[in-house]
Amino acid sequence: MTEILNGKVLAKTIRDKARIRVEAMETPPGLAVILIGENPASQLYVRLKMEAAKEVGIYVERHECPADISTEDAIAKVQELNERKDINGILVQLPLPGNQDTDAIIRAIMPIKDVDGFHTENRRLLLASAPNLVPPTALSLMRLIQATRIPLRGKTAVILGNSQIFAEPIIELLRDAGVVATFVPKNAEGLATITRAADILIVAVGMANFVTADMVKPSAVVLDVGANKSGDKTIGDVSESVVGHAGFISPVPGGVGPLTVAYLLLNVIKAMELQERLRG
Ligand code: GUN
Repeated sequence: MTEILNGKVLAKTIRDKARIRVEAMETPPGLAVILIGENPASQLYVRLKMEAAKEVGIYVERHECPADISTEDAIAKVQELNERKDINGILVQLPLPGNQDTDAIIRAIMPIKDVDGFHTENRRLLLASAPNLVPPTALSLMRLIQATRIPLRGKTAVILGNSQIFAEPIIELLRDAGVVATFVPKNAEGLATITRAADILIVAVGMANFVTADMVKPSAVVLDVGANKSGDKTIGDVSESVVGHAGFISPVPGGVGPLTVAYLLLNVIKAMELQERLRG
């Protein structure tokens, strides 16, 4: 029997908590979302984030920029938002469409407003086990793992993905929980043997049905970060054949996605609190 990890239900609980915290505030926290270009997937994600933020009472602004905006102009936009007292969180939706310098734009965000936790300063603090703002995806994955109630110490995890930079925050949180976690690129030699050894398998390769049952340890925890378009449906990186084989699986849709949006909202609240504490 495979248990389905319901991210939608967990996300609702978090949003309800966020709403109660926002209602108790004199002024609501503010989030600015920067959307560069017209990538349909990015437009969809921005809409979902903004709707969720509004629903809990967070003030949101959407800043649309042309696909060919220069790095300098995008940085100027970020700096303008850094200066605003009513904006506590700044998010630049990725990937950027043109030849903008993504790292430079992210680095321009004031670290205490970096609600995606992507800034080098926030990455450094997390690696030093003194996290400030942690990437919502990593928080969401940890929450799903905790929902399994399996003891974590001594377990192994494989993060199968395209980029070490995505994997780093979740690896750090897993290591803090006593899990031996490693990043494995999707083209690694002997991939199935490696993934089959993992108690926890996190998949973020961006390819529909990439992981099949033969790549999964029976009774493993499988978390699917994929969101691939298939006609008008969204499907994950993990094939349907893994259901019935794994111990736990997070579905797509309704797994990591809604939970990640919910943790973004908590980060906006946390960012506001950090800024208030700093002002004294
Ligand atoms: N694009 C895909 N995932 C993310 C995310 O977590 N944050 C932002 N800003 N863009 C993304």
